[in-house]
Amino acid sequence: MARSTLPKTRKRTPKAPAKRQVRRKVAAKRRKVCVLTGGGDAPGLNAVIRGFVHAAEDLKLDVVASEDGFGSLLSAKEPLQTLDRAAVRGILPRGGTILGTSNRGNPFSRGKATLRKLKARIEAEGIDQLVLIGGDGTLTIGCQLAEAGIPVLGVPKTIDNDLRATDRSFGLDSAVSTATWAIDALHSTAESHRRVMILEVMGRHAGFIALQAGLAGGADVVLIPEIPYDIDRVVQRIQRRTRSGSRFSIIVVGEGAFPRGDSVKLIAPREGNTPARLGGAGAQLEVALRGRIKNDVRVTVLGHVQRGGSPCASDRVLSTRFGVRAAQLCAAGVNERMVALRGTDVIDVPLQEAIAAPHCVDPAGDLAQTARAIGIELGAAFRAT
Ligand code: F6P
Repeated sequence: MARSTLPKTRKRTPKAPAKRQVRRKVAAKRRKVCVLTGGGDAPGLNAVIRGFVHAAEDLKLDVVASEDGFGSLLSAKEPLQTLDRAAVRGILPRGGTILGTSNRGNPFSRGKATLRKLKARIEAEGIDQLVLIGGDGTLTIGCQLAEAGIPVLGVPKTIDNDLRATDRSFGLDSAVSTATWAIDALHSTAESHRRVMILEVMGRHAGFIALQAGLAGGADVVLIPEIPYDIDRVVQRIQRRTRSGSRFSIIVVGEGAFPRGDSVKLIAPREGNTPARLGGAGAQLEVALRGRIKNDVRVTVLGHVQRGGSPCASDRVLSTRFGVRAAQLCAAGVNERMVALRGTDVIDVPLQEAIAAPHCVDPAGDLAQTARAIGIELGAAFRAT
């Protein structure tokens, strides 16, 4: 069950045993932790690193970092970076990750040699724990390392919001803000030219970015992977708008969305451990609309601008909370857990829970129902069960 594993704060009493406890704490060895960022970057990664390092100082943790995911750790020649206050100065509003990252697959999948190399480096450096800031790929590696006896703590990172164990990850809100800005910009040009504008957004197999940006930007149609769409319904929605005097329509399509009876469009299939690249959902929709509506159709693929740039305020706050909680868990010697947001609280959950099942938009949930209630076409009839 999800809960906090941090020890409860006890009131200080002037009794002798409590004093002895404090003395033991002071004499305790400083713990050394190694932080790394893995997978695709997300706005807010630097804010997590900064929150962690700031909190670590008071918690008497020594923090080092591996660059480019496991890159430095796996190369005996590459020194680890020391992370102190000076090293993280000014990074709060910066996008990307100062540590670099990689989403080229799992370095531990080809035999046990890489794992042995990692263990040897960890021992040589005197590292007590690894802190992995990453999405499902990185956290899957985390579970593998934990199984091999390496102490690991996870921090969830994904603009797609596709990790079930946390209600939200940092990066989502910033991506949604960027996509909303794009919808706002498309409105004026769509209206001037009486066009149907399709905006393809990221999210892999989860439609959170598409649906939230569609709601925030006032889209007419939102197509998400969780609801295979019927092209007739999309056509009808556009025709209804034309009949009611609207000069244009805005469609937001998640990159993982697909028509009923079809499957997800890929730019490149999965190659070994490197995940498949999704893309083409917008173009597919344009082809399907061609000849069926009077308006010209144009497609904008928003791409990596959604992942770049400065994190929005809510992501900076969540990232900082995640970073601080992760440092507190490390100081308490807690392993194999991941920090997570549950409701409004930051808690920690078993690492395994993070990768157990993907988080997707619930077609019957509040977000989808809100969209339907204000007339956004989601591409399929909804029947409550
Ligand atoms: O998982 C985050 C994400 O941005 C997805 O939304 C997108 O499909 C993918 O990463 C893109 O990955 P890459 O950076 O390898 O193109």
